[in-house]
Order: sequence, then C-alpha cells, then structure tokens
Amino acid sequence: APPLNSLDVYTEEETMLREAVQRFATDVVGPKVREMDENEQMDPAIIKGLFEQGLMGIETSAEHGGAESSFTSAIIVIEELAKVDPSVSVLCDVHNTLVNTIFRKYGTKEQQDKWLPQLASSKLGSFCLSEPASGSDAFALQTRAKKDGDSWIINGSKMWITNSYEAEIFLIFANVRPGSVQSFSRYHLDCSTRLTRAKGTKGITCFVATKDMGIQIAKKEQKLGIRASSTCTLNFDDLKIPAENIIGGEGKGYKIAIEILNEGRIGIAGQMLGLAQGAFNKAVPYTYSRSQFGRRRGKSFTKEAAMAKYWSSVVAQRVSGQAIEWAGGVGFTRETGIEKFWRDSKIGAIYEGTSNIQLQTIAKFIQKEHS
Ligand code: CAA
Ligand code: FAD
Repeated sequence: APPLNSLDVYTEEETMLREAVQRFATDVVGPKVREMDENEQMDPAIIKGLFEQGLMGIETSAEHGGAESSFTSAIIVIEELAKVDPSVSVLCDVHNTLVNTIFRKYGTKEQQDKWLPQLASSKLGSFCLSEPASGSDAFALQTRAKKDGDSWIINGSKMWITNSYEAEIFLIFANVRPGSVQSFSRYHLDCSTRLTRAKGTKGITCFVATKDMGIQIAKKEQKLGIRASSTCTLNFDDLKIPAENIIGGEGKGYKIAIEILNEGRIGIAGQMLGLAQGAFNKAVPYTYSRSQFGRRRGKSFTKEAAMAKYWSSVVAQRVSGQAIEWAGGVGFTRETGIEKFWRDSKIGAIYEGTSNIQLQTIAKFIQKEHS
C-alpha cells in the first residue's frame, strides 16, 4: 500500500503500463478500427498482439506466464483500449476480469497450472452464463449437466456470449440439479416456488470446456455497437466434460458467477469511461480548428461555469472530509496533511462568488430557459 502521505494514485508500473497500452491502442488497433467495425469481425492479428504485449494475463502470476500485476492494471488496460476501440476493450475485459479471475480465485493448483498459462499466452476465453430465457434472471438457467462415470454430459444453449467466435476456452455454467429450476417472472412467486427455485440455484456449477470438445456456434449476432466483438449463441449437444473440469465444486457456480461479476462490472465501468474519453479526444481538436461565420464555435458558458465552481467545491469538501475519516485519528492530526486539504477546501465555496451566488446565477439561467 502506498504511504499515507503519498499523492500518487497509480504506481510507476501502472503508469508505464498505461503508456504502453496507449501506444499499442493508437499504433496497432487504431488503423484497424473502422474496417473491423464494418466487417463485424475482430482482426486475429489484434488478438495475437494483445497476447504478445502480455495484456491477456494481467493479474496472472509470473509462474503461470502472466504479468502478475494489479486489478487496477487490468482496469487501466480496459480503459485505454476503449479510448480507441471498445470492441477490443471488451475482448480483453472478459478474458481478464471474468475468465482468468475465475481460475485464479477458484481453481485448484492443478487447474491453474493447466489453464492459466494457455490463457496468458495464446488461447482466448469466454464466460457463458446468459441463456435465451435467463439474462437478468441469470440463476434460472436451464443448461443441464448430468454425471456419466468420470465425466459430465452438458445439454442446453447459451446466448450473448462475448469472444465465443474466437475463443478456445469456455467457462460454462450449468445446473447439476435441473429438476427444480423453472423460468418465470419473479413478481409472481409464491413461497413454495421461491424455495424450489432457490434449490435450483444451488445446483449451478462452473465447468471448463474447450472448443474441440464439440461446442457448436449456432448464431453470430449482428449488433448495433461493439460490432467487432463477437457475440454468439452456443449449443451444447451431449457435450462431454471430464469431472476434473469443475471449478470451485458442485453447486458453487452461482456464487462464483456473481462474485466475479461484482468485479467484472468495474471493468465495464472502465470501458465506458475510456469510451467517453476517446470520443472527447476526437471531438475537441476538431472544435478548436473549425470556423463558421468567421469565428470558431463557442457559446455562453456562464451557467456551466457557475455549476462547475459550485459542484467542484461540494466535491472538494466531501472528499477531503471523507479522507480524514478514512485515516481515523491520524487524519485529524497535522501529520499526514490530509486535514489541510479539508481546511483549504472551504474557500472554494466562498471566493469568486459564494456558493449561494453560484446557485442564484444558475437559477436565473434556468428561469430564463423555461420562461
Ligand atoms: N454479490 C454476491 N452475491 C450475490 C449477489 C451479488 N451481487 N447477488 C445475489 N447474490 C447471492 C445471494 O446472496 C444469494 O446467495 P445465498 O442463496 O447463498 O444466500 C444468491 O446469490 C441468490 O440471491 P437472489 O435470490 O437475490 O438472486 P436472484 O435470483 O434474484 O438473481 C442475480 C440475482 C442473478 C445475481 C441478478 O441480481 C443479476 O445480477 N443479474 C444480472 C446477471 C448478469 O450480470 N449477467 C452478466 C453476464 S456476463 C456479461 O454480460 C459479460 C459482458 O457483457 C461483457
Ligand atoms: P432481460 O433480462 O430480458 O431484460 C429486459 C429488460 O427487463 C431490461 O430492461 C431489464 O433491466 C428489465 N428487467 C428484467 N428483470 C428485471 C427486474 N427484476 N427488475 C427490473 N427490471 C428488470 N452474457 C454472458 O453470460 N456472457 C457474455 O459474455 C455476455 N456478453 C454480452 C454481450 C452483449 C453484446 C450483450 C448484448 C449481452 C451479453 N451478455 C453476456 C448477456 C447480458 O448480460 C444480458 O443481455 C443482460 O444481463 C440482460 O439480459 P437480457 O438481455 O436477457 O434482458
């Protein structure tokens, strides 16, 4: 952990990684973005490049061929790629934050030794939870797994699976106690149905499968956006998986899925932030150079300036006040300098017009806009 008086949010390693990903995104991904979007196809050279750059095993240990870096690093990669192409970003996101993380957190030593090196070096992964009849209601999944000697036989289908067109390793969530699962609206439950369904949830199990075991791609979606990222429906028709390919134990799949998604959602937040920054970066230089009616673009910003000053002052006080509490008693002393930020933040609500004056200015504009 950084020392208490450190102002650096990112480590030197994370900053260097950000710069390296920026270069890769601009030089390697950038020239292919348009073509990949139009063709609705990820260029295999990009996937190869991501592996070669060491971006497909960010948190994976060095022993398993990964970069042994931080969760923050994984998010930085997603964010930087999204500035140039959100499709490439989500490919990397699913592979790192969902697939690799499941092996790292829930895999046995043998499973980690077997799968993590492949995932870090060359084989793309996908996370197969959603189904035609269970998206938000993910734990009502209907894909079944039946024991057959030392193997499990999987039947069912998955829908909306990112990376699945190019992937070679699939994490499949299937129910080993399927009799008790039904698909229905949660708003029409009575107590007994609820209990029955809860039992079904507890049968959900996470299996590892490889493409050559017989995974069939039933349909590749044609989408509105992130078109270079593949999204497919997969069919499993008596898919035979060895019993040693269960991750985390029978019936533990629902917990694995949701705990991983809690982290994965931070990845998507990073992707969306990167996307916003990417659009902004492209548009702003244009607005600086574009001239119409003899002048550059520009409009009154009085209200926005008042809003920016008012809200930044609120944020400054709130964050610096919270920072003191995070540091506990030490934060209340002068030792760390955190208390100084809070003292200094007070002036933001006073000079260049108090917060009350900013609110009045904003109110005057809103009144004008609506009169
Ligand atoms: N974190 C940890 N545990 C959670 C949890 C969470 N966020 N939400 C629910 N749980 C646990 C509960 O504690 C409970 O556990 P126990 O029975 O052991 O106590 C169990 O899950 C069932 O809880 P609920 O009855 O509340 O669950 P539910 O049936 O109403 O459904 C849900 C909950 C499926 C998790 C739903 O809230 C949800 O998140 N749906 C969205 C599914 C989703 O995000 N899918 C993403 C697929 S991957 C993807 O989309 C990738 C991509 O695009 C790139
Ligand atoms: P539904 O669940 O049918 O929802 C339809 C509408 O009803 C939504 O507005 C929803 O908010 C609302 N709704 C549903 N239930 C409730 C409720 N209880 N309260 C209030 N509103 C509700 N899944 C994977 O497993 N792996 C992947 O890699 C993956 N990648 C994806 C990539 C893409 C491009 C897309 C489109 C989807 C992907 N998904 C993946 C699936 C994705 O997680 C689901 O689409 C999502 O969870 C929503 O499920 P649904 O599409 O079935 O919509």
